[in-house]
Amino acid sequence: MSENKEQTGLTLTQHIRLEQRAFASATGEFSGLLHEILVAGKIISREINTAGLEAELVLGVAGTTNVHGEEVQKLDEYSNNTIIQLLQRCGHLAIMGSEENEEPIHIPEQYGTGKYVLLMDPLDGSSNIDVNVSIGTIFSIYKKVSPGEKGSVEDLLQPGNQQVAAGYIIYGSSTVFVYTAGNGVHGFTLDPSVGEFLLSHPDMKIPNKGTIYSVNEGNFNLWSEGQKKYVEYLRESDKATGRPYKARYIGSFVSDFHRTLLKGGIFMYPADEKAPNGKLRLGYECAPMAFIAEQAGGKASTGKESAMDIKADKLHQRIPLYIGSTEDVEMAEKFLAED
Ligand code: AHG
Ligand code: MN
Ligand code: MN
Repeated sequence: MSENKEQTGLTLTQHIRLEQRAFASATGEFSGLLHEILVAGKIISREINTAGLEAELVLGVAGTTNVHGEEVQKLDEYSNNTIIQLLQRCGHLAIMGSEENEEPIHIPEQYGTGKYVLLMDPLDGSSNIDVNVSIGTIFSIYKKVSPGEKGSVEDLLQPGNQQVAAGYIIYGSSTVFVYTAGNGVHGFTLDPSVGEFLLSHPDMKIPNKGTIYSVNEGNFNLWSEGQKKYVEYLRESDKATGRPYKARYIGSFVSDFHRTLLKGGIFMYPADEKAPNGKLRLGYECAPMAFIAEQAGGKASTGKESAMDIKADKLHQRIPLYIGSTEDVEMAEKFLAED
């Protein structure tokens, strides 16, 4: 859907309804579900943007650790609870999975269940919360595939190529909601004065090749030889291929991915000696961003195969991730094939 005159000022709610008509079954469940997510995004955005004022209440650690052994930030908990409460009640979900919950989240009887399932990273980039660097929420939506009313963990372990929608909300200098329902990628910027997300990035396309690479080079000595050689290749001078590439690493996947989507290049979280499957989780970080990257004309890979084809065998499974411009991801795969 490319921008045209009547699209200017199109709200996210209107866009979802149009997408719903064109792609998802026109029952209104799909748009109802996405609408709840955008409401959660507005609530979390407000909390983050006032966090500095009530620092002791909102910033800092919650004093607990999550399933990954990571210190939970108060805003992690706030975001997780906000989304769970809103989405459990919407009546469109059969089950949910969250980075912050070891087990799947079932839907209480009184709310009724629907035909979709949701995976989410309620707040990505937690280590950046207290230093006022942009962070975000990532979500992924599938159709329920298990028999019976209630969802099961099987519904949350589907390969990324079965997603019906995926998106993220980036809480930065402005709050931007980016999503795909399988019909291209579209971005909406929150106008806080009216409380609406308005179309700002219609039909987003990632450049076929970029000149930026994004990886935590602190792990360099833990990488495979192929991974090391690829990054050394990017640092060499060669005008014809735009090298040396610029190095940019924010440390919030949502922000590093959003920049890669807009400017091209490659984001990597490789496997290394400490983390043989890398760090990012397939279900609620890699698969949703892979869907978006592919819909925008880019690519997402484990370094060996498409990230969209991997079927998780557990809810919090990690995979190595190479995502961004197609030519850059394919170049990385060439170097990794030498391993
Ligand atoms: P989360 O805050 O949801 O746990 O995710 C953090 C992830 C991701 O946002 C980022 O790309 C990565 O952690 C950064 O990891 P390093 O600090 O190891 O580079
Ligand atoms: Mn994350
Ligand atoms: Mn998180």
